[in-house]
Amino acid sequence: MTKKISGANNCTIQEVSLTPNASESGGNYFSVYNRVVVITGGNRGNGFAIANGLSNAGAKVVRIDLAFDNKLNTEDIEFDLTNQTKIKSLVEDITEKYGRIDALVNNAGVSIASANPYADESTYEKTLSVNLHAAFAMCSAVCPIMASHNSGSIVNLTSLGAELAFPNNPSYQISKAGLRQLTKALARDWGEFGIRANNICPGYINTAMTAKSFTDNELHQKRKNNTLMKRWGESADLVGPAIFLISDASSYITGTDIYVDGGWTANGGL
Ligand SMILES: NC(=O)c1ccc[n+]([C@@H]2O[C@H](COP(=O)([O-])OP(=O)(O)OC[C@H]3O[C@@H](n4cnc5c(N)ncnc54)[C@H](O)[C@@H]3O)[C@@H](O)[C@H]2O)c1
Repeated sequence: MTKKISGANNCTIQEVSLTPNASESGGNYFSVYNRVVVITGGNRGNGFAIANGLSNAGAKVVRIDLAFDNKLNTEDIEFDLTNQTKIKSLVEDITEKYGRIDALVNNAGVSIASANPYADESTYEKTLSVNLHAAFAMCSAVCPIMASHNSGSIVNLTSLGAELAFPNNPSYQISKAGLRQLTKALARDWGEFGIRANNICPGYINTAMTAKSFTDNELHQKRKNNTLMKRWGESADLVGPAIFLISDASSYITGTDIYVDGGWTANGGL
């Protein structure tokens, strides 16, 4: 909508119109109230924190995980994401119940230590299956549904390993590099249907996945010292960025990476 400024000749300003959701939520651009959010790997760690934060902010959260021992105000579905042939019907069931899917957070992931990661096919296959193929199948199932209501936000949890080399974990790094690029492909192909896709790229966060280096004094200090903030991340550090990317506050942001790494990637060293 264009607005004339009184007293100024031929001068107009472009008024930014609130999207329907923002106006419904009283102009709170960060609102995720009533949004239907599906999150994978929501039982613990980063996924648990994000699911909890979204649920507390009023979103209708559906968690998918192997099993649940952490209760939240969410719908919890026990499902092994390596069963990719069943993902389409899983997503159809969720859509039938809620009528729509406003956001998908591909968070489930594995990082498997291996004595010989270049010869260990099972590690490679499992890592790619959970971290990349499941996310691809989830997006393939969810995008047509989001497109049918012309809106949606996909948030993929990548890693510094999507771009930087870390020792002895090639499968993880390949999977996260693929996921990072999947996000950009989604943004390219589904943007005109109202779907945004972005990466949250965490640094070292204190979860079960990183317990070994968190509890190793030398590695703990090294990781801490390489951040500009001189601390490890907590899963709670990811909640704000996830809410931002799912809410209308990020309505023109797509195909990009948000680093939540305490300054790791900005650190020039010395
Ligand atoms: N912790 C970090 O420092 C860090 C850094 C960068 C990226 N990440 C990413 O954040 C995401 C969450 O990691 P986290 O640190 O919370 O790890 P985590 O191991 O604590 O949690 C991973 C969750 O994924 C679930 N999951 C694993 N395989 C699954 C499967 N086949 N089907 C369904 N669910 C499955 C697990 O049950 C678990 O709840 C991952 O994608 C990880 O790669 C973590």
